[in-house]
Amino acid sequence: MDKRPIGIMDSGLGGLSVIRIMNQQLPHEKLIFVGDQGHFPYGTRTQQNVCHLALNIGQFFKRQNVKMMIVACNTATAAALPTLQAKMPFPVIGMIAPGAKGALQQAHHHSIGVIGTASTIENHAYEKKLHQLDTSVQVVEKAAQPLVSIVEHGQTGTVLAKQTVDEQLAVFDQQPVETLILGCTHFPFLAAEIQQKLGNQVTLVDPAKEAVNNAQEWLIKHDALNDTTLAPQSRLYSTGDVAVLKAGAEQWLNSQNYTCAHLEL
Ligand code: DGL
Repeated sequence: MDKRPIGIMDSGLGGLSVIRIMNQQLPHEKLIFVGDQGHFPYGTRTQQNVCHLALNIGQFFKRQNVKMMIVACNTATAAALPTLQAKMPFPVIGMIAPGAKGALQQAHHHSIGVIGTASTIENHAYEKKLHQLDTSVQVVEKAAQPLVSIVEHGQTGTVLAKQTVDEQLAVFDQQPVETLILGCTHFPFLAAEIQQKLGNQVTLVDPAKEAVNNAQEWLIKHDALNDTTLAPQSRLYSTGDVAVLKAGAEQWLNSQNYTCAHLEL
């Protein structure tokens, strides 16, 4: 039994797509979220810079005495996971290995598409992991950085969102895939638009589901679940404009059990 919080980080609202699943699957865990909106977006930064930012947040979580850290950001996972795992005194869970595993578990996974930020795709983070697990799969990668801004600016469900998804995913008209990895935590909030563009025959994989399964397995194995009977209040921090985080949380979270505040790191 361990009542300490779990630290979760992202560059912005994408982290909420992971918190949403945490709240469903592990509702008794207290979460401390850092949305690094003061440095948004991560996807156009160098990996070295993203690694530095992620480490800084890891240090904050250390001061908060968390029992685990979830990097709810594919870009930061690709740039910083091994460094965080080496330097932090708690387990650190990323998005990419769980996302690749989740895709390979689908019934039809001969051709797998990956959409992510400019950085995640340029570094072939998913392609490398998928081929490490199964050399026979075909991988079609597409950077879709403009979709990140659509979500961060609260423009999902608009005509602009639909147009941008259609443009960004046009590559899959020529190179169809059976399964698509949503390789950026902002993208599950555009799942409806993405599914409409690709058709129902394509399976969308949200890496957060497998990542949360991994977190749950670790907590059970190490007898570290929070045994409280009441769902504890989580803290959501933004290093940028807290009003943006608050609006995102109101729109996307399935719980009101949190407080929002600005964080200077
Ligand atoms: N949500 C993040 C990811 O999963 C990063 C988006 C960005 O800041 O560019 O990659």
